[in-house]
Amino acid sequence: MSYLVLARKWRPQSFSEVVGQEHIKRSLQNAIRYNRLPHALLFSGPKGVGKTTMARILAKALNCERGPSIEPCNKCISCKEIDLGNSIDVQEIDGASNRRISEVREIRENVKYRPSRGRYKVYIIDEVHMLTEEAFNALLKTLEEPPPHVIFVFATTEPHKVPPTIVSRCQRFPFHRISSSIICHRISEIASAEKIDIEEDAIRLIAHSSEGSLRDALSLLDQLVSFSTPPINVKDVQEILGLFDTHLVLETIDAILNGDLKKVLETIHKIYEEGSDLKQFYLNLITYFRHLLIAKLTERASLVDLPDYEWEILRNIAKNQSISHLEQLFDLLISEQGAIKATTQPRFILEALLIKMAEFKKVVPIEVIIERLSSLKKEAVRKGEIVDEKVAEEDREDIKEKIIPAIRRESPVLAAILENAKIFLKDEKIFIKVLQFHKELIMQKNYSDILNNCIQNCFGKDFVVLTNGPESYKEDDLVQEVLKIFGGKVSYIKGR
Ligand SMILES: Nc1ncnc2c1ncn2[C@@H]1O[C@H](COP(=O)(O)OP(=O)(O)OP(=O)(O)O)[C@@H](O)[C@H]1O
Ligand SMILES: [Mg+2]
Ligand SMILES: [Zn+2]
Repeated sequence: MSYLVLARKWRPQSFSEVVGQEHIKRSLQNAIRYNRLPHALLFSGPKGVGKTTMARILAKALNCERGPSIEPCNKCISCKEIDLGNSIDVQEIDGASNRRISEVREIRENVKYRPSRGRYKVYIIDEVHMLTEEAFNALLKTLEEPPPHVIFVFATTEPHKVPPTIVSRCQRFPFHRISSSIICHRISEIASAEKIDIEEDAIRLIAHSSEGSLRDALSLLDQLVSFSTPPINVKDVQEILGLFDTHLVLETIDAILNGDLKKVLETIHKIYEEGSDLKQFYLNLITYFRHLLIAKLTERASLVDLPDYEWEILRNIAKNQSISHLEQLFDLLISEQGAIKATTQPRFILEALLIKMAEFKKVVPIEVIIERLSSLKKEAVRKGEIVDEKVAEEDREDIKEKIIPAIRRESPVLAAILENAKIFLKDEKIFIKVLQFHKELIMQKNYSDILNNCIQNCFGKDFVVLTNGPESYKEDDLVQEVLKIFGGKVSYIKGR
């Protein structure tokens, strides 16, 4: 049994089956409908986007026994002959292998005769830019006075290599790359018709890497079918494409952002050992760093062509980073691009660069600082150990009188401290304001347990220990945290 590759098996037979290229379909169908078809058409555009396909459909539509119509019937003898490549009236010539003048002379001889079965003689010349100069000149003669029953369709991926004298005698039909969403859709359709078990993300990666060529996408799918065990997943596609495991790239980025030097070096080592190309890895790193920035800056995945799960990973990594930090790292990556490209020792430069990135001092955004400070405060209040100047300090001797005797029974030291403390009630909590070194004593577990028991027994309330006095700031957690974040030293604390 001969296996027909997917790209051929799924070659559209009529205009309606062609995906994308709407502008081409529309103008060809209008030309047929209004009988305004030019004698020479130049189909230009990237490979595998439907040029040859459309040329054949056009030839069928023109010569169809039920035509000429805007769609071939695909059933009549003429349509069938053209499909099988047996038609005398429709000739497909490969410009790459029939470059010489003799072949073109043959065409010139041939065009004189009327079509045998159909209405038109259609010459489809693929890769027309490959013809020799003499061949072009010979062709030009025919194009200057084309017999009414002759139509030339030239197809080329490199229109700039076709002489202007030829181009100016043709109507141009610029084919476009097919969008990756259209390719995705088409692959899904074909995969389900062919009962190919393939994951959504794998389809997206195929579409993405085929760069707008549906033929490339289908050839890749073919390869995958024979290469991997179903269901076909992203890893299979990466393997065939010789792509980097993007997971490794993402892990490296994560390690850099977490300042995990060990992991960064291990990754480089791993890639090196695998014999993979470090320069390629570097390019991937840049690409994904760009994606990361986009993930930080926008909500939409549409700016990058990534599988959903990768987008999610990037969004999660980006969440904890500031834009400015990411931008600085991205700049670093870009700035070393030349050095990496030029060197024969990419490993060393890469190591040095990634270490630099991992150690790059974070610029903490102000929102994060504020958020940190306020959560620190909340946390500290919960633990019962914070300075808070804003609490209204209405001294409550009654509270003292009630708890100090009880405490004295347990700990005279603690009682003595409390006698000198300021005690007040606020928000249903009992606040005890003492000197810093007293606070430290109180917060030792044995004392704080005693205090807690007594206060709970007498009042059924929680307590908070505050410090008073400027001598305490050096030990103050909040102040220490501020120093850690901003650097610098304390010279004056307001209200102390
Ligand atoms: N627009 C399209 N719609 C549907 N299928 C397409 C389209 N473009 C390409 N294909 C698929 O890719 C195959 C190859 O397409 P085609 O031969 O028309 O490409 P081409 O543009 O002529 O490329 P080349 O420049 O390499 O000759 C088709 O058989 C079909 O399976
Ligand atoms: Mg072609
Ligand atoms: Zn027909």
